[in-house]
Amino acid sequence: MVIGIPKEIMHEERRVSAIPETVKKMIDSGNVVLVESGAGEGAYYPDSLYVDAGAELISDVADLYERADLILKVKEPLFNTQKDIHELDMMHRGQYLITFIHPASPANHEMVNKMARSGVIGLTLDGIPRISRAQSMDALTSMSTCAGYRGIIMAAERLGWFIPPIFSAVGSTKPANVFVVGAGVAGLQAIATAKRLGASVFACDIRPDAVEQATSLGAKIVDMPIPEKIAVAEGGYANPLPDYWILKEREVLFETVKKMDIIFLSALVPGKIAPILITEEMVQNMKPGSVIVDISIDQGGNCEITPPGDISIEHGVSLFGIKNIPGHLPKSSTWMFAKNIFNLVNYLTKDGEIYLDMNDEIVRSILVTDGKNVVHSGALEAMGVK
Ligand code: NAI
Repeated sequence: MVIGIPKEIMHEERRVSAIPETVKKMIDSGNVVLVESGAGEGAYYPDSLYVDAGAELISDVADLYERADLILKVKEPLFNTQKDIHELDMMHRGQYLITFIHPASPANHEMVNKMARSGVIGLTLDGIPRISRAQSMDALTSMSTCAGYRGIIMAAERLGWFIPPIFSAVGSTKPANVFVVGAGVAGLQAIATAKRLGASVFACDIRPDAVEQATSLGAKIVDMPIPEKIAVAEGGYANPLPDYWILKEREVLFETVKKMDIIFLSALVPGKIAPILITEEMVQNMKPGSVIVDISIDQGGNCEITPPGDISIEHGVSLFGIKNIPGHLPKSSTWMFAKNIFNLVNYLTKDGEIYLDMNDEIVRSILVTDGKNVVHSGALEAMGVK
C-alpha cells in the first residue's frame, strides 16, 4: 500500500500525521510511505529523519495525492490557497482518507458531500468509539487531553489579571474563577490544569459520572437541573438534550457565567452538533476582560457567537474558536496522534490493504463516505437527510 503524509495546511497547524518512528513501522510492514517535504517541521521532525526511516520525500503534494492509496491527515480537507486547489480535488476515486472530518458539523457538510462525489472513502477519527479495544486508536481522546491543557494556558495568557491568589505589600488578589462546562476528557484535563495554576475551579456536566470525576479533581460543581434518565443514554454517553432542558440549563448558566473570569466550553454528545449553552446575552453580562475558550467549535461551538477557527473580542470578552488547539502543542500532540493513527491503520489492514468489515463497530462508526455516498448517521441527521 502507498501511504501519503501531506503537510497540514490549516492556519497555524503544526501537527503532522506520522512521525519517523511510525513511518518506519509502516515501511517494515511492507508499505511505501510518501512524505511531503517539510511536513514534520512544525512538530520538530526534520525531513532527514523521515528519509532515515525509509520514506520518500515529495516536493509537489499533488504527486503525493495522485500516488497514494491511503492519505493520513490531521485536519479535514481544506482549500489549499498556495496551490489554488481544494485538497479533495487532488484526491481520486477509491482512495482512502483517515483524518478528523467532524462530519456532523454544519461547516463541513459541503466538504463531506464533495468527498462523496469525489469517490473518496473517508474515515473520521472523531468517530472512534470509546471502548477499551479502541483506546490505542482514540486520537480524539489524545487531542482532547492536549486541548484541555493548552486551552487553559491560552486563556491564562489572554487574561489581564492573576490566576492564583497573590499576596503583596499593597494587598492581595483572589484566585480567578475558571468554569469548565462539560467535564469529559478535555474538560477534566482543563480542570486539572486550572487547579495547577491556582484558580478557583467550577464545573458542570449532565452525566453524574463526569460530575463525580470533576469533584475528585477538586472542582466545585454547578448543579444542572436535568434528570439522569434524560441526560444519560445507554452505554453511559450523554444524550442530546431536548430544547426545554437546554433552556433550563441556560438559566443556571446565566447566573454562573457573570462571576467567571475564564470559561472553558467542551460540552458535546459524540457525533452530534454541540449544544448552544452560552448565548450572546450571557456574554454581554460577563466581566469585561474575561475569556471564553470554546473547544467544541469543530461541532459548531457551545457559545452562540464563537468565531469558527478564530479569536475575537465581543462585548469586552475574548472568544477563542481555534479549531487546532493541539497544534499549539505540536510535539506532544503529534507524538500521540501519530501513534493513534498508526494503530488504526494497522487495525484496518488485512493482507497489506485496507479492509472495511462493516460488522465491526469501530469501522461502522468511523466511516463517513463509502466511495459513493455519505453514510455517517450523525452527519446525515445534521444535514436533515435522516
Ligand atoms: P467528551 O465526550 O469526553 O466530553 C464531552 C462532555 O460534555 C461529556 O462529559 C458530556 O456528558 C458533556 N455534555 C454533553 N452535553 C452537555 C450539556 N448539555 N451540558 C453539560 N455537559 C454536557 O468529549 P471530549 O473528548 O472532551 O471533547 C470535547 C470537545 O472538544 C469535542 O467537541 C472535540 O471535538 C473538541 N476538541 C477540540 C479541539 C480544538 O482544537 N478545538 C481539540 C480536541 C478536541
